[in-house]
Amino acid sequence: MKTLAIKLLPPPPKQYSIFMAQGLLKSLPKILKQLKPAARYVIITDNIVKKILGDPLVKSLKKSGLTVDLISFPAGEKNKNEKTHSKLTQQMLAKKCGRDAMILALGGGVVGDTAGYVAATYMRGIPYVQIPTSFLAMVDSSIGGKVGVDTPQGKNLIGAFWHPEAIIVDIDCLKNLPREQLINGLMESVKIFLTYDKSFFEFTKKNWKRVLAKNPQLLGKIIARAIELKIGVVVRDEHDLNERMVVNWGHTIGHAVEHLSNYKLLHGYSVALGILVESKISQLLGILSEKDFQIIRDTMVQFDIDEKDLQKFKISDIVKLTLMDKKSGNGKVKYVLLEKIGKAKKDARGMFGHEVDQKTVISAIKFFIK
Ligand SMILES: NC(=O)c1ccc[n+]([C@@H]2O[C@H](COP(=O)([O-])OP(=O)(O)OC[C@H]3O[C@@H](n4cnc5c(N)ncnc54)[C@H](O)[C@@H]3O)[C@@H](O)[C@H]2O)c1
Ligand SMILES: [Zn+2]
Repeated sequence: MKTLAIKLLPPPPKQYSIFMAQGLLKSLPKILKQLKPAARYVIITDNIVKKILGDPLVKSLKKSGLTVDLISFPAGEKNKNEKTHSKLTQQMLAKKCGRDAMILALGGGVVGDTAGYVAATYMRGIPYVQIPTSFLAMVDSSIGGKVGVDTPQGKNLIGAFWHPEAIIVDIDCLKNLPREQLINGLMESVKIFLTYDKSFFEFTKKNWKRVLAKNPQLLGKIIARAIELKIGVVVRDEHDLNERMVVNWGHTIGHAVEHLSNYKLLHGYSVALGILVESKISQLLGILSEKDFQIIRDTMVQFDIDEKDLQKFKISDIVKLTLMDKKSGNGKVKYVLLEKIGKAKKDARGMFGHEVDQKTVISAIKFFIK
């Protein structure tokens, strides 16, 4: 047998910017012209964002001399799937888009993940720009280059790491965002504050009413801090080998209930239930104090999260689905554990994933559905 070695050079490091301001979409043509040159742009969005922001954006890009098309798909998590990915790809092929096209992912996390995945796979990868329009997408899903779709077996099980050329955050986009969607997104910032920044968790709690009233300064402050924290995690562990699982805190249980609800329970609300159960797991294991657990539980009530929603699911179904979690292997599920508000636990080897026995997980869920 003859063995030949293939030794590839490491890829050059990628650097790109996150631009953030009120009214920034007005400057989009100018920003695009400063990025990697593209022969044409394809806005991918959902049917709701198309009407509010997509159609006006097409007009303004055309007016500034850019070649632009818009393709859309029906809004909602249930459409973040392989069928939509394939349909969008076919539409781009029909429009004869080449490798010199650039995708503009305009929308919430569903659009960002799906359009980003189209960008990652179209002709083996073309450039794209994330333009998050939901709070959740601004603070979380647009940051970090994870793109992909759900499958009948579970969430985000197919995807890629594919970073955009830029991320453009225009807080004015939030003007039309329904209150429920705002809370939904706030739960992802609460998640990152609970694991990394106690003072911002307290800040969010204290200013909750003004945040819900969409005070732009407050929203801007929370979004900027959540983005900053997530960038830190992504830079330290881009490929999700250890620390990046901390941004999935609350998601082991959260993804399970989201899936079991047939995606009727929104992602952020599902994660909030996951935060409750996973905080309880940490407390049952003697890692998180009773006092901190109670603060988190009380705050979730203030944040309009109803822990009784957990009663809608069978414990055995939740536990079964956690085995599909990407952090699991050999039938064992790894959890991120909270040491105190603002700090996730590392083991002696510096690892953030901790195997937790099923009995503790079941006791934690039972605590909320008694
Ligand atoms: N890639 C990642 O790292 C990552 C991280 C966190 C979450 N996610 C994914 O993000 C998704 C959830 O994102 P989401 O909550 O934004 O969902 P979404 O994209 O479904 O948006 C929520 C709803 O808000 C509407 N909307 C969006 N922007 C709007 C605006 N400006 N005005 C009015 N309506 C608007 C959408 O049409 C949709 O109906 C999940 O699929 C989750 O898995 C991915
Ligand atoms: Zn999430």
